[in-house]
Amino acid sequence: MSINLKGRSLISLKDYTPEEINYLIELSIAVKKEKQNNIRHQRFKGMTIALLFEKRSTRTRCAFETAFGEEGGFPVFLSSEDIQLGAKESIEDTARVLGRMFDCIQYRGYKTSNLEALVKYSGKPVYNGLTDDFHPTQVLADIMTVREYFNTYKGIKLVYVGDGRNNVASELMIGCSKAGLDIRIASPQPLLPCENIVSLAKNFTKKSGSAIEITTDVKKAVQGADIIYTDVWASMGEEDKLADRIKLLKPYQVNKELMFLTGKETIFMHCLPAVKGNEVTADVIDGDKSEAWNQAENRKHTIKAIMLATLGLV
Ligand code: CP
Ligand code: NVA
Repeated sequence: MSINLKGRSLISLKDYTPEEINYLIELSIAVKKEKQNNIRHQRFKGMTIALLFEKRSTRTRCAFETAFGEEGGFPVFLSSEDIQLGAKESIEDTARVLGRMFDCIQYRGYKTSNLEALVKYSGKPVYNGLTDDFHPTQVLADIMTVREYFNTYKGIKLVYVGDGRNNVASELMIGCSKAGLDIRIASPQPLLPCENIVSLAKNFTKKSGSAIEITTDVKKAVQGADIIYTDVWASMGEEDKLADRIKLLKPYQVNKELMFLTGKETIFMHCLPAVKGNEVTADVIDGDKSEAWNQAENRKHTIKAIMLATLGLV
């Protein structure tokens, strides 16, 4: 079933219905199959995308550049070190100019309000490549990875361990509660998720029937987990907090002992980049239950799918 997403932007999965998310996942799976079977298209031929980066990136940048470029599109990488944004020109004026030159825009940066301004003043589809608040293209790839591994979302328990306030934890609460995965967040008290995100996600579970739980008790939280997911202890922009975070989060490290406490076969997930020895030990992330590398690959397929759908090419 095709759903019309032409012209839409992606700020967070909170703005997409479960049906739309499901459609994007199925499209991503189809796009991945094409790649595996060496079926080549030129669906972005003659099109351009502006890739605005205020923060570093490996996966997101490479996913956008390769997905768009290999189908004939022309991606233009614009780091905030190079362009006028932030120094001499407002986000509104930047958006107006980019909107005149490009078919679509990706933004990775600090403020979600910048993304909203890009949407408002460019008039083109804008994709969130990560802000302090949300990371929707990551969680789309995560949901796709779950779908590939378990072939369902119903009854699957994802336990996120670590900094419950960051962009990945917030987007996971939103994405899981929309898709119908059960999610538990285990964080120390100062890093428990923001109340507004929890209540938003709780609202979504009313439709999907999934469960959401928030706790500080990591050992209890992981019992029965199908998936243990973690992320860095200090996100981009909060590097100065790392020493405090190490103290707070040491008991929340994902290691062999924690994986064993689930009492079942459990896979490990991580958005990457990882700091091995902090949030996860090398034996877990490099072990045979790690899906981290599949998640990374799926960034490309999901990003291609969202661009195809919102540019009206499928
Ligand atoms: N997971 C992720 O967004 O990776 P990058 O920071 O390398 O883009
Ligand atoms: N929470 C991390 C995710 C990196 C992909 C960060 O914002 O740095």
